Amino acid sequence: MEILAAVGVCFIMWNFFSLLHYWYTMIKQYVMPCLLDRTKLIRQYGEWALVTGATDGIGKAYAEELASSGMNIILVSRNPKKLKNVSETITATYAVKTRYIVADFGLGCEVYPDIKEALKDVDVGILVNNVGVFYHPQLTTEVPEDKLWEIININIGAAVMMVHIVLPGMVQRKRGAIINVSSASGSKPTPLLSVYASSKSFIDHFTRALHYEYASKGIFIQSLVTYFVQTNMTAFSTFLKSKPYLVPDAKEYVRQAVKTIGISRRTAGHLSHSIQLSLTYWLPEWLWVSMLNILFNIFRKEHNLKPLKL
Ligand SMILES: NC(=O)c1ccc[n+]([C@@H]2O[C@H](COP(=O)([O-])OP(=O)(O)OC[C@H]3O[C@@H](n4cnc5c(N)ncnc54)[C@H](OP(=O)(O)O)[C@@H]3O)[C@@H](O)[C@H]2O)c1
Repeated sequence: MEILAAVGVCFIMWNFFSLLHYWYTMIKQYVMPCLLDRTKLIRQYGEWALVTGATDGIGKAYAEELASSGMNIILVSRNPKKLKNVSETITATYAVKTRYIVADFGLGCEVYPDIKEALKDVDVGILVNNVGVFYHPQLTTEVPEDKLWEIININIGAAVMMVHIVLPGMVQRKRGAIINVSSASGSKPTPLLSVYASSKSFIDHFTRALHYEYASKGIFIQSLVTYFVQTNMTAFSTFLKSKPYLVPDAKEYVRQAVKTIGISRRTAGHLSHSIQLSLTYWLPEWLWVSMLNILFNIFRKEHNLKPLKL
C-alpha cells in the first residue's frame, strides 16, 4: 500500500514538474525575449546573416527581420531577378549591406564550390538553412523520381552542405548561430508525405546532434519545428488560408521565431505553433494519422485529386 502511495506521489510530482517545465519554456521563448534587447543579442553572432531560399516566404521574412536588427544579409536562391529585387529592397529599407548568391540546390553537389568561393571573405554569424520543397499528399511510389531527388538535394543536402561550409569559420571565431528549418510533419510518421516529412525529421535529428557537438564551442544551433505558415508553399489551400490563428503569415511567424534565437534550441517558433506541437506530441500515433488523412484529403481535393484512404 505504501509503495503504491509512493508511486502515486511520484507520478503526480512528475506531471507537476512537466507542466511547470512546459510553462517555463513558453515564458522563456515568448515572454522573456520581449523584455530584452534582442537586436543586440542577434548582432553578437557577427555582422552577416546568410539565408537560403531567401526570395520568398519564411526565408525572405528571416532576411528582412534580421536586417531590421542591423545585420547585413546574404541571400541564396536560384532566381537572379528575384534575388536582385529582394536584395535591393532590403538595402533600401534597412540601410544594411546585402549580397546574393545564385544557386539551384536541386542540382546537388555541383553548386557548393561556387558558394564556398563566394563566402571565402565573409564571416557568417547567423546561418538560416531554410530552403525546402514540398509536394501534394500522395503515396510514396506516386511521387515522381525527380521530385524525390529534389527533396533529397534541397531539403537535406543543402542544409548539411551549408553547415559544412559555414560552421568551421564560426568555430574559429567561437561564435555563431545556425537555424535549421524543420517541420512538425517530421515529428511523427506522416504517411502521404513520407519523403518530405522524413527529410524534415532528418533536419531535426541532424540539428539536435550538431548542438551536442558544437554548443561547447560557442555555437548556438536551433531546430525550428514549423507548423503551417501562409507562403507560396501552402498557397494552394483555401482551407489553410481560412485559419489565420493556426496558420500565421511568414512575417508574423518569423517576427516571433527570430526572438527565440539564442534562447531555445528546439522550438516551433511561434506561440500558436508551440501549442499545436505540444498537442501533436500528446496525440497517439493512430489519431495523428487519422487526422492527417482527413487534412490531406482536403488538400487532395484542392488539387482535384481523388481521396485516399489509409
Ligand atoms: N510554409 C509552411 O507551411 C511550412 C511548414 C513547415 C516547414 N516549412 C519549411 O519552411 C521552409 C520555407 O518554406 P516556405 O513555405 O517559405 O517556402 P516558399 O514560400 O516556397 O519559398 C521557398 C524559397 O526557396 C527557394 N527555392 C526553392 N527551390 C530552390 C532551389 N532549388 N534552389 C534554391 N532556392 C530554391 C525559393 O526561391 P526561388 O523559387 O526564387 O528560387 C523561395 O525563396 C522550407 O524548408 C519548408 O519545408 C514550411
